[in-house]
Amino acid sequence: MKPVKVGICGLGTVGGGTFGVLTTNAQNITRRAGRDIIVEQIATRQPNPDYDTSAYKLTDDVFAVAQNPEIDIIVELIGGYDVAKKLVLTAIENGKHVVTANKALIAEHGAEIFAAAEAKGVSVMYEAAIAGGIPIVKALREGLAANRINWLAGIINGTGNFILTEMRDKGRDFADVLQEAQQLGYAEADPTFDVEGIDAAHKLTILASIAYGIPLQFSRCYTEGISTITTEDVQYAEELGYRIKHLGISCQSERGIDLRVHPTMVPASRPIANVDGVLNAVMVNGNAVGDTMYVGAGAGAGPTASAVVADIIDLARSMDADNSARVNHLAFNTIEDEQVLP
Ligand code: HSE
Repeated sequence: MKPVKVGICGLGTVGGGTFGVLTTNAQNITRRAGRDIIVEQIATRQPNPDYDTSAYKLTDDVFAVAQNPEIDIIVELIGGYDVAKKLVLTAIENGKHVVTANKALIAEHGAEIFAAAEAKGVSVMYEAAIAGGIPIVKALREGLAANRINWLAGIINGTGNFILTEMRDKGRDFADVLQEAQQLGYAEADPTFDVEGIDAAHKLTILASIAYGIPLQFSRCYTEGISTITTEDVQYAEELGYRIKHLGISCQSERGIDLRVHPTMVPASRPIANVDGVLNAVMVNGNAVGDTMYVGAGAGAGPTASAVVADIIDLARSMDADNSARVNHLAFNTIEDEQVLP
């Protein structure tokens, strides 16, 4: 089969990690995809010193990549809303499949993007947008596809979990740990998204949309962060036999679907209470399978790149087969009348 050509837009933490995984694991990836996957072009404002990209075509214009006729898949890793949205829509308009890690973009503009993709017969994939390296999108769509999902709950922001863990274990100050999370490449460009729960709310909105087949309804998600939690709060909870975890929770009842993100006192004996550091964990309860739980690194170059490249491989496997890739975005918005509770 002819090779699949990829254009990477953004060469920061995740973009660099994606380049690194695609090049380092190229042999494995080719075997699994059944064809070569080639990095055709990279858009970046500045080269990433951690990766040798000297043999590759670089540009500082993401739209040149989106319109490059050689390219099959655009990998959007620039983050943010406006330019990212224009980039993704330009790529779709040019008949390209899109892989993105941008949860804000999908949660807030997903409906428009998926409609454009459907009209063009291309796919938009976003496994990396939620819980970093945990394949939770694939678990919900494929592994749990037979179930009615009753509820899901999880730690879906690595930065927040890292902060709460360091405050508990080392008595460290909130601001000090946040600064370290930024240096480690865990935090969003605007870290208020992490500490005020917005990032987790974006992710929960997308998970709920897949789990229940409902439209994306970010504005209906109750959102509370961890910025007012003190080291004393964390330590008092510990003395009482609890851990403070920042959870995203969604459940389905006869009244509708509840979406909320807030700090939660979890008994210390529960598995999720012991998911620490940058790890994320998502629990899903399905009416056939019962309880399931997925744990793994929720942020950082390698784990997020693992999910980005998994989507690229999925596309490479199916892009020449009629419609098989398109199921990825068509899974959305099937139950129009089911609303998230106000
Ligand atoms: N800032 C995000 C987090 C990155 O800390 O979880 C991964 O989505």
